[in-house]
Formats: sequence, structure tokens, C-alpha cells
Amino acid sequence: MSYIKNEISKRNIPDVLKFADGTIVTKENAQERHAEILDILQKEVYGYMPPAPDYVKGEVTYLNDKSAAAGFGIWKTIDITFAINGKSFTFPTNIIFPKGVENPPLVVLSYFGSGPFREFIPVEFLVSKGVALAAVCYNDVTSDNADFSDGMAAIIGERQADSDTGKIAMWAYAESRILDYVLANENINTEKIAVAGHSRLGKTALVAGAFDERFKYVFSNSSGCAGAAIARGNTGERTHNITGHSDQWFCKKYATYSEKEEEMPFDQNFLLAAIAPRKVYVASSQDDAWADPKSEHLSCCAASEMYDAYGIPGFVCEDRPPQPGDKFHEGNIGYHMRAGFHFFSMKDWGMFLEYFLK
Ligand code: GCU
Repeated sequence: MSYIKNEISKRNIPDVLKFADGTIVTKENAQERHAEILDILQKEVYGYMPPAPDYVKGEVTYLNDKSAAAGFGIWKTIDITFAINGKSFTFPTNIIFPKGVENPPLVVLSYFGSGPFREFIPVEFLVSKGVALAAVCYNDVTSDNADFSDGMAAIIGERQADSDTGKIAMWAYAESRILDYVLANENINTEKIAVAGHSRLGKTALVAGAFDERFKYVFSNSSGCAGAAIARGNTGERTHNITGHSDQWFCKKYATYSEKEEEMPFDQNFLLAAIAPRKVYVASSQDDAWADPKSEHLSCCAASEMYDAYGIPGFVCEDRPPQPGDKFHEGNIGYHMRAGFHFFSMKDWGMFLEYFLK
């Protein structure tokens, strides 16, 4: 038996190609399965996405069209406001456009806040490649703690029912509102819109991409548990760990799977499969045992079937465990494994951009 087939059967991963009632997914009914998977993920893991906004608008509070990115970029800070059921919320976003590029590709990125550097933010790098960046600090959307009374959480409210919205879903929802603003106000290449993030924000990018089909590329870096990594048999972070320290990221139901991953009516391959037939890119690092690179890789393998249903290549890789230096860019699931530790590195961005701009 091949490595991949063996690993998938050993872990007993639920099949994305089977509807809950057992019907087999085909090209004709793949969109219905997409909707079913989104419902499962909301009900069981992230909580239900808030309804579509009443409106979205933006106000430019800062403009530097002279010297940003050494003079090659146009930098705008925008206060973006949206309302849900009559309650409004405003958050700042920084948008940098490459000068002189008519319809640039766009990356929407959530990044970490103050404190020690958690990541490399590729402002000048993207501008130099002719790519626009719209970046939000996730704490400006809502705080990363159990308090649901600030930021966007204040208009959504505390989680009461089992499947009420968690914070990852809120951060993802805000990424879609950034896209609403950009599409209404700027010229963008709509075939090249990516959503990206690292770690908990890599989980967020996957959720944003699964729910918003305008994101044609999803780049998740070291997203691990409740991100790209398969939960069953994961040797790094497990459901009881993640819900122990950050239950606010999810709906309440998710914690009921602590130490009971085998009872989940899904696994994380469902999240990747919900992005099909669009492109999803998974990046891992070798020494990131907590995110479990082998389980992240396995999700790509297991989600690949959904692309088969659409009749397009999914994960085109070698049939062996992943190793540092791997770069699989042929299919609609892109992948690399970098040497080193958990970090959103310049190297990760370089490899994603090769895939994004090819
Ligand atoms: C913790 C958490 C991870 C998460 C990471 C991060 O390590 O356990 O699930 O991805 O923080 O966001 O940096």
C-alpha cells in the first residue's frame, strides 16, 4: 500500500466525497456538498458566520502616495465600517498598492499585534512584485481572549448556543469586509485575490477562504490544529489543548470533542475541501511539532479527492512522508515544507508568491 493511502486509512479520516446520507459526491452535486461541509464546520467547529452586512463603507484616514515602500507604493489607512442587523463596527486597515500597476493581484492578510515580532510582514516585497496588500491587525477586529464585549464581538455577542460564532469566524468575516471595500473602491485583478495568515491566523485564512468564494487563493502558514492539520492521530496540539487555552476561537460545541477526535463527523480535510475548486496553499515548517507538519500534509492528500470530483488536479505530490525542501506547486493544492521553526518567514512568502503569480 502507498504511504498516503495507508496513512489516510490508519487515521480513519472521514471521507469528503460522501454526503452525510452516504450519497457519493460527483461533479454535478459537488456544490451541494460544499454547502453541507460549510454547515458542518460552522455547527461543529467555528460557529455560524454572521449574516451578510447591511452595508460596508470606508474612510481614508491617512494617505502616503509619495514615499511609501521607497516611493513605489501608495499607502492608505482606511477605517472600514460595516453593520450587522443595524449595529455597526469600525476597524482600521492598511492598504498598499504598487504604483503604476493597473489591476494588481491582492493579498488580504491578518497579522499579530504588538509585542515581540511574530512574523515577517512583506509590505515592500509584495509591492516590488506588483502585488497589493490589505492588512489588518487581528486585535483591531476583536481581542483574542474570552471577552466577547469588545470590537466586532460586541455587535455579535457572547456565545450562548452550542454553535454561536467564535472569534476565528469573526476575524475571517472581517477579512471579507475588507474585500468588499477594496472591490468597491479600487481596481484589482479579481482572479488573483488571496487571503493569508500564519498560525491562528492561518486557521482564520482557511475559514475566510472556505466561506468567501471571491478569495481565489488561500495561503495558510503553519496553521496546525483546527487549521490544516488532521485531528485524528495528530502528534502535536490536540483538541483538548487548543480549547483549553483558546476556547474563544471556536463555537462551544468544538470543546466537546476533546479527547474524542474519533467522534468528529468531519476532520480538517473538510476545511481544505471547502475551498475547492479554488486554490489552497499549505506551508509547514520541519521543526513545528506543535502544528504537526505530517498531519498538515495529510490534509492536503485527503482533501485532494474533492478536486478529483471537480475533474481538476488536487494535490500533486510524491507518495512519501513530507520532508524539508518539498515544494509541490503543480496542482490546485500548493504546498511546501521549509526547514526551521514556527514562523511566517520571508521564505514562506517567496514560495507562495511563486505559486500565486505563476
Ligand atoms: C498556540 C496555539 C496554536 C496557534 C498558535 C499561534 O501555539 O496552540 O494553535 O496556531 O498559538 O497562533 O501562534
